[in-house]
Amino acid sequence: MSSATQLPQSDLDRYRRELFEFLEIPSVSARSEFRDATRTAGAWVVDALAAAGLEARLVETAGHPIALGEWRGAGPEAPTLLVYGHYDVQPPDPLELWTSPPFAPTVRDGRIYARGAADDKGQLFLHLKALERLLGNGGTLPVNVVVLAEGEEEVGSTNLRPFLESHREQLAAEAVIISDSVMFGAGQPSLLFSLRGLAYFELRVRATGTDLHSGTYGGTVPNAAVVLARILSTLHDSDERVAIEGFYDGVREWDEETRRAIRELPSREESLLRETGARGLTGERGYSPLERLWIRPTCEVNGILSGYVKEGAKTVIPAEAMAKISFRLVPDQDPEEVARLLRAHVTQVTPPEVETEVVELHSGRPWRARPEGPYFEAAHHALRNAFGREPVLAGEGGSIPIVADFEDLLGAQVILLGFALPGANVHAPDEWFPFDHLEKGILTLLDFYSSL
Ligand code: BES
Ligand code: MN
Ligand code: MN
Repeated sequence: MSSATQLPQSDLDRYRRELFEFLEIPSVSARSEFRDATRTAGAWVVDALAAAGLEARLVETAGHPIALGEWRGAGPEAPTLLVYGHYDVQPPDPLELWTSPPFAPTVRDGRIYARGAADDKGQLFLHLKALERLLGNGGTLPVNVVVLAEGEEEVGSTNLRPFLESHREQLAAEAVIISDSVMFGAGQPSLLFSLRGLAYFELRVRATGTDLHSGTYGGTVPNAAVVLARILSTLHDSDERVAIEGFYDGVREWDEETRRAIRELPSREESLLRETGARGLTGERGYSPLERLWIRPTCEVNGILSGYVKEGAKTVIPAEAMAKISFRLVPDQDPEEVARLLRAHVTQVTPPEVETEVVELHSGRPWRARPEGPYFEAAHHALRNAFGREPVLAGEGGSIPIVADFEDLLGAQVILLGFALPGANVHAPDEWFPFDHLEKGILTLLDFYSSL
């Protein structure tokens, strides 16, 4: 039975205007030229929090600021709920592949297109507006609420961890609720049972003191691009398993119940081919695509740089080569241990005549949910009511680096309740968020709070 009513059209019109204003701010955290814009987006969240009836401020960090809002009206004895999200976005490049500009939000075919529409401004916005409906004009809630929106999730949340450590008491919460993920399918709501962790590196190869004429020297000295390619080819074996010694040691086997739940979900094979344009699927033998995405670790090469790549031909032996390499991790793999293993592996496969270096960029630990308890139940009911369908438990291949820290540092249960849809082009051109999920998302959250 659906208890979801509708929101007044005038409110929805206002929400659309406000969300568009938020989406127009190019808060690209990775790029220094967008530093001021990123801050502007943080300030925008602070204003929205204040308008929603929370005490709000912008907290400085060594990087982009944190937008923090608090409502303590339930009193010191009542539990506290922490809402987490991020107002920063990924770079919009390549710009020429967008149908409409990334920071000029538009609605086409029932979708809001803009960078950040799904990840994560659009989803954070749902929480801001749900709280505004509940707390605006002096309303109350049975729980205290803290909202923490950071501006550095897309660059690894490096300054958020120290902030959590130094504000443990202020941020203490029974549960953390996060909408920064996708539903299992259109019309099929889901709650997440896992997130993969991440360990990201740069691998540099130096072979000669300078670039060289490939005729004058070719055949005598090492070529950095070739050596890098050889090293990269040692990262996987013929079963597409990661071939780094000890890499799987930390992997905890999943319980039969979770594996069965995954098996019972519709196959992801066809939708993966459709969404990605790949001609066939690859990956670790012995596991289904959903298992490979959710409960198995991976190693990917994210970029390669070496030698001459512009127009025409240039006969050169590159002196240097670089690759970006990242690992998605599952419980209980530890990013620091993976860094040690990668270093040992690279040392072992580096030929004596070249120099290699492994630089750590950022990391986050994997996370596994406790899918139970009153907050989980409330989220489950709310999704069912708003979407008219029983939510499924799903895993997620992506990472939200701070999630494991919320559990460890704050002792809070994390609930991941996403409203974007598969194929939302997160981090890609033409990112979108379903327009009707603006209303459905807010209704879900209103129901969630009302059943606490
Ligand atoms: N919201 C995403 C993670 C995500 C993506 C969850 C798709 C569910 C579906 C998050 O903003 C993200 O992009 N995380 C990064 C890690 C970060 C350190 C760059 C990721 O997973 O690559
Ligand atoms: Mn995100
Ligand atoms: Mn992201």
